[in-house]
Amino acid sequence: MVVTLIDNVNIMSMDPSQTDNGVLRQTQLWIQDDKILAVGSAGAYSPVPDHRIDAGGKWALPGFIDCHTHLVYGGSRADEFRQRLSGTRYQDIARAGGGIQKTVRDTRTAAPQNLLQHSLRRTRRLVEEGVTTIEVKSGYGLDEQTELTMLNVAEQLGVYLPVTVMRTYLGAHTLPHQYKDNADGYIDFVCNTMIPKIATGEHASAVDVFCETMGFTAAQTERVFQAARSAGLAIKLHAEQLSDSKGAVLAARYQACSVDHIEYLDPNDVPALAEAGCVAVLLPGAFYYLKETQCPPVSALRQHNVPMAVASDHNPGTSPICSLLTCATMACIEFGLTCEEALLGITAYAAQALKLPDKGRLLAGLDADICLWDIEEPADLIYEMNGFRPYCRWVGGRYVD
Ligand code: NIG
Ligand code: FE
Repeated sequence: MVVTLIDNVNIMSMDPSQTDNGVLRQTQLWIQDDKILAVGSAGAYSPVPDHRIDAGGKWALPGFIDCHTHLVYGGSRADEFRQRLSGTRYQDIARAGGGIQKTVRDTRTAAPQNLLQHSLRRTRRLVEEGVTTIEVKSGYGLDEQTELTMLNVAEQLGVYLPVTVMRTYLGAHTLPHQYKDNADGYIDFVCNTMIPKIATGEHASAVDVFCETMGFTAAQTERVFQAARSAGLAIKLHAEQLSDSKGAVLAARYQACSVDHIEYLDPNDVPALAEAGCVAVLLPGAFYYLKETQCPPVSALRQHNVPMAVASDHNPGTSPICSLLTCATMACIEFGLTCEEALLGITAYAAQALKLPDKGRLLAGLDADICLWDIEEPADLIYEMNGFRPYCRWVGGRYVD
């Protein structure tokens, strides 16, 4: 048993039930092995600490959680970025065979070692700014072998870096060429071959679908949800990113843990999310890169107490951003979140979007994923874009330099 005492520390526990996100000043934080032993004094029976650190008034926050990324892929889409800058639409590039299809070609031909090297570089950037958990989706392989390679590379990220990796199977991202006129045939393959294999082999813990006019219909999405449910996998959805396809209400019917993007979500559909306990994941990076003008219905989400998470959506097309904190700031500027909402969105509610109740908050008994920050107040992290790196951190209770 190893006990660490962080003394003289300010804490923002990110407990959403506290009005101020759970601020405690000039207090103590105790770690025992991989868990938080106590927030504040450890009481009369406090153990003798093996390590004692004087935080000198620095702030302890939970490690950040990037709950929606597509970090593993081959190639680059810088050429398409240029085209978009000169006015071509994302949807038109996709229709002409670029977009996700371009990255599928590049990912299928990339050596796994090369995929790992580039994904490590991107993940390292996130880790450097205090991210201790990431979600990574497949979806640029579409065929069995490449999807499994992507998920395997994602797992490797957690071996090389101090980060917990949650994996999501996004086979229904776009239609592979060989199924060009047979979308339902591809959905058969996703539901009957891939999902059972993913579940049995524990290659991912969740399933996601791109439900959109340029992706899959609500009926096809529902078939994937049914297969995910029978296989015991969690459900997530790319919903209402470019149009109101009624994906979010469908996801709510299947008790999805999150619906992501949701710029075109009808405010009347928000109560269904609240009832299902579904997290709304806001992705301001994609909004920014696509020069979108339609904002997610934040007031309705607030009004119905739907938890809002914020994620980077890192991907080569719509959000090539390797900074979760930048996205948190963007969620405030673009979508009108408060600094406190943005911080909850990359901690407690991001954990909820990944069904990780032991992460994202500093409470006794939960995972000791903790960053110490040399800041005046936590809002500094949102206010000053790209200004801070953690002073030090513990990941799973282990001190990491
Ligand atoms: O989250 N919307 C679908 N998937 C990604 C974009 C993928 C791409 O363009 O490569 C997203 O925005
Ligand atoms: Fe995405």
